[in-house]
Amino acid sequence: MTEPSETTGDLLVPIFFMGKRYNVPASLTIQKALEYAGYQHIRGCGCRGGVCGACGTVYRIPDSYKLQVGLACQTVVQSGMHLMIMPYYPGNRSIFDIEKMSGTGGEIAALYPEIYKCIGCNACSQGCPMDIDVMHYMAQAIRGDVPGVAETSFDCIMCGLCASRCPAEEVQFNVAILARRLNARHRIPRAKHLEERVKEVTDGKFEQPLRDLMSRSTEELKELYRSRESEPQMTEDDWVPLNARYV
Ligand code: SF4
Ligand code: SF4
Ligand code: FES
Repeated sequence: MTEPSETTGDLLVPIFFMGKRYNVPASLTIQKALEYAGYQHIRGCGCRGGVCGACGTVYRIPDSYKLQVGLACQTVVQSGMHLMIMPYYPGNRSIFDIEKMSGTGGEIAALYPEIYKCIGCNACSQGCPMDIDVMHYMAQAIRGDVPGVAETSFDCIMCGLCASRCPAEEVQFNVAILARRLNARHRIPRAKHLEERVKEVTDGKFEQPLRDLMSRSTEELKELYRSRESEPQMTEDDWVPLNARYV
């Protein structure tokens, strides 16, 4: 630790970003610490809330042999941390036409035959910031269990950290999104209410209200937004707003 920060009052700790040392407040996430140090995030930053997967980061802590991974927007700095943000992980991505497929497990294997190289080491699961059992969904992919992969990988944010740790050079997140697309397009029933809403859109139900909105001034739009009726935090499943004309 070094002297306290003048702006936050926190103790400062040294971190090393791309090998260069910065003293940053000990309570900040990596993302905020780099901004404190003067960086402006142009890539490697999106939602800032742990859901977009843009800020995958690899780091080491002193006196530890372990190479660790995490999200820069969720991981708090540690004294002596060496780190690097990986906004993009170059993973193998197969091209497919979902309309010409039928949703079988064999289609995953045909597009990603490397799934059979998985050695079951679990490094992918250990690195996943969403606590997904990545090794398990890779085993489900090997078994051809499309709905299983879709279900297990549902929370994947495509950060690529699993692939960065894989000794078998798998690109787990692309296998997973293929399974979710196959599942959604060919396995699970189509949502009836979605078809109804699409028909309402194509029939022009929302044309007039949209035109009305487009004719409003910015101030009027702000006021409309401020005065809108919000869904209560705690409510029944069948809650509808007072004006349900366009629901
Ligand atoms: S499965 Fe892989 S890409 Fe998806 S969130 Fe976990 S580590 Fe990131
Ligand atoms: S890191 Fe790679 S080889 Fe290891 S379990 Fe995960 S997918 Fe399999
Ligand atoms: S900025 Fe979106 S997950 Fe970190």
